[in-house]
Amino acid sequence: LLTDRVDAAFLEAAPNLKIVANVAVGYNNIDVAACTERGVLVTNTPGVLTDATADLAMALVLMSTRRLGEAERLIRSETPWQWGMFMMLGTGLQGRRLGIVGMGRIGQAVAHRGHYGFGMPVIYFNRSKKDAGLPARQVATLLDLMAEADIVVVTVPGGGPTTKLIDRAAIAAMKPTGIFVNISRGEVVDEEALIDALEAGAIAGAGLDVYEKEPHVPERLRALENCTLLPHLGSATEETRAMMCQMSVDAALAVFAGREPENRVA
Ligand code: GLV
Repeated sequence: LLTDRVDAAFLEAAPNLKIVANVAVGYNNIDVAACTERGVLVTNTPGVLTDATADLAMALVLMSTRRLGEAERLIRSETPWQWGMFMMLGTGLQGRRLGIVGMGRIGQAVAHRGHYGFGMPVIYFNRSKKDAGLPARQVATLLDLMAEADIVVVTVPGGGPTTKLIDRAAIAAMKPTGIFVNISRGEVVDEEALIDALEAGAIAGAGLDVYEKEPHVPERLRALENCTLLPHLGSATEETRAMMCQMSVDAALAVFAGREPENRVA
């Protein structure tokens, strides 16, 4: 599971291990080089969780822009309320610029939803140019993306080179009306810099499914009304989890039958 750390010590304790079939598309929990060194194969579960994860990104976008977490808390607090012309106004999505950091499978699926479902112009930051099958403009730098987007959605894989990719400078480049959504890995974001920006009102809000020291969610984040917090639910649908588990089992069976497994990452 993505919560299991597969490092040199783990491998040392499992000398007969043949395959690590991660039940996740991300594999930042695995020391891939150490596995390769010991002849242990590594597989992941790409594709089957793309839609579920992109759906969750849009849920976080809507929860953040329409203040739905805050609204739900209001009802549950039993505070008296009635419809009001100016009560809990949020912002619409139509015409607002969606900025995708990492235009892989999930990034493209989020872009589709934003463009075709909500009428959002799409920009993206990615090393290579991607044809997502919709009008999407590639920007030259991460700072350009952060500065130009109304809503930033981070979908890059975690681990190594992307650690703290979204640093203090990147967050500072965002519009004061900007919304920041992370559905990838917590370590991709400088969480403290994000909290500082949210507390200072330097950005309008955030929707997070992942955390730097997961499952720990800092008290400062939990205290913020302008922040929607979910417990890493990106792929958490019955159908998707069934497909992920099947894919991992198939990979293990292939290896034990002497075949090359699908979705090998190393
Ligand atoms: C979930 O976070 C995954 O990487 O599959």
